[in-house]
Amino acid sequence: MVETDCTLDIPAIRKHFPAITKGRIVTNNAASTQAPRKLADLYRELLPDYENVHRGQSNASRAMTRLFENSYETIAKFIGAPSWQELSLHRNTTEAHNSVMYSLMTEFRDGDNIVLTMMEHNSNYVPWYGMCREILPRFGIHVEYRIVNFDSETGELDLEHLASLVDNRTKLVAASGASNFFGTKNPISKIREIASASGYVQPTGERRSYLLIDGAQLVPSTYVDVQAMDVDFLSFSFHKILAPFGVGVLYAKEHLRRAMRPFLYGGDMVAGLVGSVKPERVNYNELPWKFSAGTPNILGAIVSAQAFRILLDLALNPEEEIYFMTEKEILRKDVRDAMDKITRYTRTLTRRALDLISEIPKIKIYGPLNETRRTSLVAFNVEGRSPFDLADALNEFGVESRAGCHCAGLAHDNLQIPASCRLSFYLYNTMEEVETAADILAKIVREGIYAKAPSAVGALATS
Ligand code: ALA
Repeated sequence: MVETDCTLDIPAIRKHFPAITKGRIVTNNAASTQAPRKLADLYRELLPDYENVHRGQSNASRAMTRLFENSYETIAKFIGAPSWQELSLHRNTTEAHNSVMYSLMTEFRDGDNIVLTMMEHNSNYVPWYGMCREILPRFGIHVEYRIVNFDSETGELDLEHLASLVDNRTKLVAASGASNFFGTKNPISKIREIASASGYVQPTGERRSYLLIDGAQLVPSTYVDVQAMDVDFLSFSFHKILAPFGVGVLYAKEHLRRAMRPFLYGGDMVAGLVGSVKPERVNYNELPWKFSAGTPNILGAIVSAQAFRILLDLALNPEEEIYFMTEKEILRKDVRDAMDKITRYTRTLTRRALDLISEIPKIKIYGPLNETRRTSLVAFNVEGRSPFDLADALNEFGVESRAGCHCAGLAHDNLQIPASCRLSFYLYNTMEEVETAADILAKIVREGIYAKAPSAVGALATS
């Protein structure tokens, strides 16, 4: 077994995860990660004190409101947002992207365009497709979406093509921070430069295109700082960061939040004062509640925000609770140290996976072959084999993978492949698991082993 250059205490980290101690080889982390026991316990422990937030005068409601609001603060600190008022919580990344689309929709002018990439997840393509093709044309407004190519060999974004598509009618550039298919980490600062130079005149008076970064695959294992990145919008989901409790996040710069239309209309997003809701006029609530209509996913938000705190503890010292359920202010230095450790470790896993998988006959690996250019996933196809059957066969040997187009429909269509199989790793995976997964894949391919009991989707796809 190859040793990892690892400053994480992996055996101690693994003890926190029931799925791992149960013996599963969890290598489908790009889809969803596993929850540490402490988060599940916390959810249960909060139940006796559950109350609605902003909607009750009981001690329980007040205490729950404090915890809920603190969760915004924790998330803001972790991503380097200047204020927690710049956040809105959603069900997932998809809903976060839809909220940008609906909130900005009335600002688009006839002749504007949006530039997005061929490696977008459907969640950052289909909403813009719907807006441009189905919604705005009904109001006589024609907005074009332009799609940036990638290099099909390297999986790198074509920045020259991007620059050629952005012009002074580009209201928004939308790009994934890291592709969930290629793994490619896109050069956000270069994309920002191009978007900033467009000359588009925004309603706020700014002359530049807004930049929306889909951070679903980036935030779980990479240090992000929204101020340093100068993104206008950043989205991500906690189900890929240890917390499968139904919470996604949208960061948006405060002046945009103030100018933007609400996404959802209803309760709590209106001002609390008597007289703020009248037949002739409704006044909206302060940030961030203007973007929080209806009773939110209260426990989900509280527990999810603690995922960031537990991630810090796991990376910095898995035997201690420095951050989890404490009021300790989140230090940028600690976030950077923790996330850099996770990046370095998961990179060594990816390097090993790339080395081993590339030796398998007739295999095609997608995306950059340099592990520093990608996140910890490897998508591939084997000539003459269905990716669904490969995934089913892997499963029969106890290795969890995902076959499909991973919602990266544009990229699969562009490469003219219906699907691919993908292994993806996170901080609780060991080098041994990576080697086991790759060895079993090699055995399946070399020995022509097919799934004995294909899953319904695999059977359908291979029939
Ligand atoms: N978007 C998730 C994936 O890549 C679900 O699998």
